[in-house]
Amino acid sequence: MKVGFIGVGNMGSALCKSIALNDDIELFISNYSLEKAERLLTQLHHPNAYLMDNAQIVAQSDCVFIGLKPNLILDELARLTKVANPNITWVSMAAGIDLMQLTEVTNQQAVIRIMPNTPVEIGFGMTTYVANNYVTHSKMNAFKQLMTRTGTIIELPEAQIDAATAIAGCGPAYVYQMIEALSDAGVKIGLPRALAQRLATQTLIGSAQMVEQTAQHPAALKDAVTSPGGSTIAGVTALEANGFRHATIEAVVKAFERTQQLKEEKRG
Ligand SMILES: NC(=O)c1ccc[n+]([C@@H]2O[C@H](COP(=O)([O-])OP(=O)(O)OC[C@H]3O[C@@H](n4cnc5c(N)ncnc54)[C@H](OP(=O)(O)O)[C@@H]3O)[C@@H](O)[C@H]2O)c1
Repeated sequence: MKVGFIGVGNMGSALCKSIALNDDIELFISNYSLEKAERLLTQLHHPNAYLMDNAQIVAQSDCVFIGLKPNLILDELARLTKVANPNITWVSMAAGIDLMQLTEVTNQQAVIRIMPNTPVEIGFGMTTYVANNYVTHSKMNAFKQLMTRTGTIIELPEAQIDAATAIAGCGPAYVYQMIEALSDAGVKIGLPRALAQRLATQTLIGSAQMVEQTAQHPAALKDAVTSPGGSTIAGVTALEANGFRHATIEAVVKAFERTQQLKEEKRG
């Protein structure tokens, strides 16, 4: 299978790194500044990865991931559709650009809209997606096969994509903030920073795995850690007093609202 990547900035390169782990693919890569594409090519160590220009990529590829910023993608797709392989599958990761716009600009070709997050780079991503009616079973299977090395993928109705993005797309930033705060706390109570960060990171990984693997409600798992009159309930109470859960909910709501606002600005 021939797979193209146009625009390998933060997200395009993150996806490309895990998709490159698939056997039997040829990878065609382009980026506005050549150095970025060359750097990625060196990092990939892929026997069949090549740099090309955008038009060459879409003429030859079965599936092309577009990693351009939302303000550039529609104009570039309009240009490239004219020279693309007619059997191509376009994969857009652009925030706020909906499937109808993408289908229109590609002249009714197969389009999958995805919302990945940066952990796709190491195979622990969370990607939501929605496809138009021109994506056949075989195109969808090919896409799913490509995405297996990126982490988890979930198909959603398009109306839920922005809300899902406010958790999964933006969420890594909130989690990094929590790891940083826990590390700072460790330093404040006398631990070396590297140790504090290791403790914080592994605690997040382990707790997330407990939620996933035991399928218990997070509140039940929290109850199991808090003994009467103990240290943990003292910490939990302090989090409540400082609005931890409210702050987390507000973070997601504000991110969602900002996405809607950005869409409005683009329309206006
Ligand atoms: N970052 C995230 O966490 C995230 C999450 C979900 C979705 N997304 C989506 O992913 C897309 C990319 O975001 P990003 O954060 O990766 O942005 P980015 O780092 O700025 O990447 C965009 C890349 O596109 C390149 N480019 C610009 N015009 C081009 C052209 N005509 N042909 C080829 N390459 C071109 C840029 O090259 P130069 O740098 O040389 O100009 C840059 O490397 C956006 O649509 C965004 O909505 C991002």
